[in-house]
Amino acid sequence: MSVYQATTSAPVNIACIKYWGKRDTKLILPTNSSLSVTLDQDHLRSTTTSRADTSFDKDRLWLNGIEEEIKDGGRLATCIKEMKKLRREVEDKNSNEPKLSTFAVHICSRNNFPTAAGLASSASGFAALVSSLAALYALPASPSQLSLIARQGSGSACRSLFGGFVAWEQGSLPDGSDSLAIEVAPQSHWPDIHALICVVSDDKKGTSSTSGMQRTVETSPLLQHRIKNVVPVRMEAIKKAILARDFDSFARITMQDSNQFHAVALDTDPPIFYMNDVSRAIIALVTEYNRVSVENGGMLKAAYTYDAGPNAVIYTPKENIKDIVSIIVKYFPQAEAFKDPFGLFGAQGVGEGGVVQGFNAAVAKPFSVGAVKGLIHTRVGDGPRVLAESETLLGANGLPK
Ligand code: DP6
Repeated sequence: MSVYQATTSAPVNIACIKYWGKRDTKLILPTNSSLSVTLDQDHLRSTTTSRADTSFDKDRLWLNGIEEEIKDGGRLATCIKEMKKLRREVEDKNSNEPKLSTFAVHICSRNNFPTAAGLASSASGFAALVSSLAALYALPASPSQLSLIARQGSGSACRSLFGGFVAWEQGSLPDGSDSLAIEVAPQSHWPDIHALICVVSDDKKGTSSTSGMQRTVETSPLLQHRIKNVVPVRMEAIKKAILARDFDSFARITMQDSNQFHAVALDTDPPIFYMNDVSRAIIALVTEYNRVSVENGGMLKAAYTYDAGPNAVIYTPKENIKDIVSIIVKYFPQAEAFKDPFGLFGAQGVGEGGVVQGFNAAVAKPFSVGAVKGLIHTRVGDGPRVLAESETLLGANGLPK
């Protein structure tokens, strides 16, 4: 008897132009377009196995070993239902196809990064879910078509269906059929873009993206200005910068948009604060690093961006990553030696870090160990991957291995 299953992995993406606000909360239709960089799955990924079997009595899903409830009408149920609908279209066209759309599925998903790292896993998670079902069902769907479904799991997930540089076009149709992700440029266009993720210690439970952004939509007048006048111009400008590999413009727009996203959070009533003192100190360090470059006739060399939490993501061309890591380690001493996946620092490692010549050391105070509790060095990466049978996360009994 055949086993119908597929395993895929999907990447994390971090936006340069932020998605913040929905015009339709059920279909997850945004109030503005957004654009992100897909990060390398060699470092950060969600892996998902989906299996369809006549012996399963209902759809079930496990996330990092723990079973999650698939609530009727909820985001998981919607994605699974939509994928089965696409499978049914295949079966209707070809009666020889096994009727997988009528079988229940078992879905097992794992992230290779700890949830405690505070990195959003919903984007890679829903992208992996949708791509594993697409592989299981042998759907003839394009990544953009699949993005329409991933979007209904979590808005930002639609951008994880592509590698490289990805736009989520907001669309205008009420049914959401034109609110999808498109590839602006593949990873190979600008492979030099590296990212340093600074995992910032955070004890308090923050406001979730989903509820925070709705409060912003309801109360922030600044958001209306952003939607109408700011994002459309920035989307065009950043696409141009990416196509021209113009890091200076890319960095300026990325930092401005992160700042405006946090400004609309502050403009929400009551206000929402996602960044903390550590986040702001990292902004000061990147700003000073850029100032030194510009003052010496150079260009912007690094860009910070922050999502709905205090973690910093710093984008920089590969040639500058050593400077950035050294600066961060100097101000935020690390309990563990920096993991150097690209072997930039050689046998000696980063040591205590240091700053570039001309850097005003007084722009931030040094913090103690633990303020930045981890550093992840990665780079722009590819889109979802279909993995070998041997990578399955489900055992012969249909339960997590
Ligand atoms: C700040 O995609 O997590 O990271 O659609 O409600 O699931 P839902 O929200 P989510 O929001 C992400 C917000 C952001 C910006 C971005 O990724 O564009």
